[in-house]
Amino acid sequence: MSDEATIRAALARLETVHDEAGLAAWHRDVLGRRGSLSEALRTLGSLPESERRQAGQRLNTLKAELEAAFAARQEAVRAELLDHRLAGEGVDVTLPGRRHPLGGLHPLTAMIREVTDIWAHLGFQTVEGPEVELAKYSFDMLNIPKDHPARDVWDTIHIESDAAEITLRPHTSPMQVRIMLQQQPPVRVVVPGRVYRYEAQDATHEWHFHQLEGLAVDRHITMADLRGTLAEFARQIFGAERKVRFRCDYFPFVEPGVDMSIDCPFCSGKGCRICKYSGWIEILGAGMVHPNVLRWVGYDPDVYSGWAFGMGFERLTMLKYGVNDIRAFFSNDLRFLGQFQRARL
Ligand code: PHE
Repeated sequence: MSDEATIRAALARLETVHDEAGLAAWHRDVLGRRGSLSEALRTLGSLPESERRQAGQRLNTLKAELEAAFAARQEAVRAELLDHRLAGEGVDVTLPGRRHPLGGLHPLTAMIREVTDIWAHLGFQTVEGPEVELAKYSFDMLNIPKDHPARDVWDTIHIESDAAEITLRPHTSPMQVRIMLQQQPPVRVVVPGRVYRYEAQDATHEWHFHQLEGLAVDRHITMADLRGTLAEFARQIFGAERKVRFRCDYFPFVEPGVDMSIDCPFCSGKGCRICKYSGWIEILGAGMVHPNVLRWVGYDPDVYSGWAFGMGFERLTMLKYGVNDIRAFFSNDLRFLGQFQRARL
């Protein structure tokens, strides 16, 4: 075979190489120490002097050509291999990502924050207190002496019934006493927290729920402050168009005592199933702090006066979002809880 033909065959074979092993084999066969080119170079010596120079030049040109062809093919094969690998490892960047489930606030937690924020703007500090509480604070110092029938209104869960009488607090009102024992007037606080009652459960009753206690004590505080402040709170949480209504109610630790209702936000007071066709929905109990309570914490009732209120968070949240069963809050059902996650974190 002439050199030309050998070389052309080598070039043609190079085109069929598609991997590193093929490249190495080709290089060995053609350009290697024992390859066809080296062989041709070795035969130069046997040529007559006159032809040797020319033949040598031609082989050198061929060598350069083969080396260039090899380098080009090597690059092409590597590019092919890379393409192939990328195609195999393909990532579809248009696929939607996997969403990591993020926790969110429980609707009651969100409501507690919203409400305490409103009170902060009205000048009330938020404090918390113990859930395991002495009857002394839950009842005695709130003007509900032992064996007083009013004590039965709060169906208390007892932890120890001996002289100390340790209970799960049935309301947040004991914090009124604890706060006043700790500081001098003026007092402006709200107390969110969990309370417990020994009660049968149904759509509107739970054996544990959340309350907000409020207390303002200072010189010259009157019923007008109670009325104005609570009405302002109702408007902030339920909308500027809400009307409020106060009626007489009885709580041993206030005098006079009232309850406050808002006109039904579902029917604007016309009467519907939710307001039991009365047009009004009761949302809290309140009143002027009883002089006995002030006296027993060491405040002079002739100098200081105050008002207090107590409100249930579950009821408020149910009204605000149209939840019809209080048990849903404590069911740990993500289908229920997930509905409150919008932009609330
Ligand atoms: N503690 C009362 C209750 O649980 C509510 C209340 C608080 C009423 C403060 C008047 C003043 O029913």
